[in-house]
Amino acid sequence: MVITNAKYVISSPDFKGCPAADRPEFAFIGRSNVGKSSLINMLCNARSLAKTSATPGKTQLINHFDITGVVPVSQTKNTTMKWYLVDLPGYGYAKVSQSSRRRWEQMIEGYIRKRENLVNLFVLIDSRHEPQAIDVDFINQLGEWGIPFSIVFTKEDKNKPGGTINRVNAFLKKLGETWDELPAFFVSSAITKKGQKEIADFIGTTLKNLNGG
Ligand code: GTP
Ligand code: MG
Repeated sequence: MVITNAKYVISSPDFKGCPAADRPEFAFIGRSNVGKSSLINMLCNARSLAKTSATPGKTQLINHFDITGVVPVSQTKNTTMKWYLVDLPGYGYAKVSQSSRRRWEQMIEGYIRKRENLVNLFVLIDSRHEPQAIDVDFINQLGEWGIPFSIVFTKEDKNKPGGTINRVNAFLKKLGETWDELPAFFVSSAITKKGQKEIADFIGTTLKNLNGG
């Protein structure tokens, strides 16, 4: 898929405030500061569509973006597809009060479990770190809830050569302790745009399959 247009729509405090669920939706989640908003900008070729910050906890609401993309259906024909992209607040941000954190968790859980047009949740994992319990627990929870997801290992540019693959393998090995089948996964960098094509093509293929191929 080539994204041809991306437009901010609305920020909602809970799933009830989200736009009508009239088209497929792909959302991005992960720890605070993992690079969700940066990845969204990279995917959409837009510098400041989603607000980014070096300080964790920047994204505090459910942010909808209206996306138009084209997908090849044959060698000579493209089809245009409209879908929603969602930037979610990060989980696991320590520097907020217990009550704020609980409110965020409820917002995220409500959205994930009740948003009927959610096709796939991209769970972002920082490719610099060893597997973190908070990420593994979150993914296992998605399994219990039956939410379709895939993984994006972010900030690849920050690793030494060979570093990313070691982290990816360690994480997948950890998931293998609880999952029979591993999810689709991608490696990304908002700096070098690594992963842009792969993630956009995955979205395009998923949308095509939804429409019956
Ligand atoms: P919250 O909204 O606070 O949950 O954070 P977020 O997950 O949306 O992260 P955001 O995109 O705001 O990025 C956090 C910080 O990481 C910013 O300083 C970004 O510039 C930096 N960053 C994000 N992605 C990358 C990347 O691929 N490479 C490098 N080097 N830095 C990145
Ligand atoms: Mg953000």
